[in-house]
Order: sequence, then structure tokens, then C-alpha cells
Amino acid sequence: MDIEDKKKMAALAALDRIQDGMIIGLGTGTTVQYMLEGLATRIKNEHLDITGISTSDRTTNAANELAIPMHDLDDVPYIDLTIDGAGEIDKHFQGIKDGGAAHEYEKMVAISSKKNFWIVDDSKLVDTLGHNIPLPVEVVPYGSTKVFKRLENEGLNPKFRMVDKDHYYLTHEHNYVIDLHLQSIVHPHHLAEWLAHQVGVLEHGLFLDIVDEVFVGTDKGVKNLV
Ligand code: 5RP
Repeated sequence: MDIEDKKKMAALAALDRIQDGMIIGLGTGTTVQYMLEGLATRIKNEHLDITGISTSDRTTNAANELAIPMHDLDDVPYIDLTIDGAGEIDKHFQGIKDGGAAHEYEKMVAISSKKNFWIVDDSKLVDTLGHNIPLPVEVVPYGSTKVFKRLENEGLNPKFRMVDKDHYYLTHEHNYVIDLHLQSIVHPHHLAEWLAHQVGVLEHGLFLDIVDEVFVGTDKGVKNLV
């Protein structure tokens, strides 16, 4: 089975949990795209009253194209359930979110949600975080080389994320991303704590103690990890 089939399978399994009247946090990424398409179909066929809360411009655009009713995070008192993808997940349900550098918005939506589900294919499961992907750190452009130096001095192997050799990758809030190439994050809570205290760092891609259930697409079907 190819990876896209596994992503779709996981997305559709989580979609089944959405009920009429719910406020749903809509994550970001290619796996979430399958969920959005399925949600649009359910809204239409079952006449569901659903409110979506976006985590990125990409998701807002997709949801608008699919006619999923959307509201701003500030307009709702809470979110019933957020369904998002992840870059990596370890066996303790700790994760890294990375790809679109949308982690600041994704984390705000996640912590406003009563429940958080992640939808992934089985390549995202790792023994130790940082194995396959770097950890993104969002930093303010002002003084970012100083923050970079601090990360380097700490042995965190930082690299600015670039669009090309002259242009920095910019987040939604027009900040820079420094990727930490760590290979293995043995103590994710310690690292998260340290990063949280660094002036100039706005947010990082470690999502710790946030997810409630993980839907994993595998060759043998969907595994629901609780
Ligand atoms: C975006 C993310 C994505 O959810 C994560 O990268 C998974 O993406 P995909 O479903 O495309 O593999 O964290 O910031």
C-alpha cells in the first residue's frame, strides 16, 4: 500500500468521530487535506452544522474551496476536537510538527481544544524524536543571528530555513525558522523548557502532552493508539 493510501485511511478514520454541532480545529498538511475533503462531503450529505478553525493560510484556502464554514479562533469559546497531522510521534505520544512551519497557529488551536487527534501514516512513528526530521524553532528576525549563536553554543546544530540562498523562509507572522538538526531528542521536555526561556524564540515544533489519540495508517489498516 502506498503512503498516500495510508494517510487517507487515517484521515477518514478520524473523520468518523466528528459529530453534528462540533467546532473542529483543522490542522495543516497533506494528510489533513484528505480529512478536509471527507469533512466537506459529510457536511453536504449529512447536513452537518460544523464550524472549522484553521491553523494556516493553506488550510483556510482549502476549507474555503470546499465550502467548510470557518470562524476565527478568537470568535469561539473553545474547540471540541482538533485533527492534525504530525512530522514524528514517539511511543509516549510526544511529537514534532514541522513541515509548513505553521506550528505556532497549530499549537494555539491545539491547546484551545478539548481533544486532539493526530492522523499519520506509519512512517511517522519513531523511537526517539528528531530521528527523521529537524525541530523547527520560530524566531523574530531582529537579532536572529544572536539567537542562532545561542542555539549553536548549546550544541543544537541550527540551520536557518531558506527559500533560496538569499531569502529566509517566513512564517505566517513573518518570522524566521531555525531548524535544529538533532538526530535524537532524548529529553524533549528539557529542551522545550530551555527553548521557552530563550529571548527571541517565539515557539518551537515540540508538541508535548497534547495529543489524545493517534490514527495510524498501516498496511494492515488503521491502528488507533489511545
Ligand atoms: C505542518 C505539520 C504537518 O501536520 C506535518 O508536517 C505532517 O504533514 P503531512 O501530513 O503533509 O505529512 O506539522 O506544520
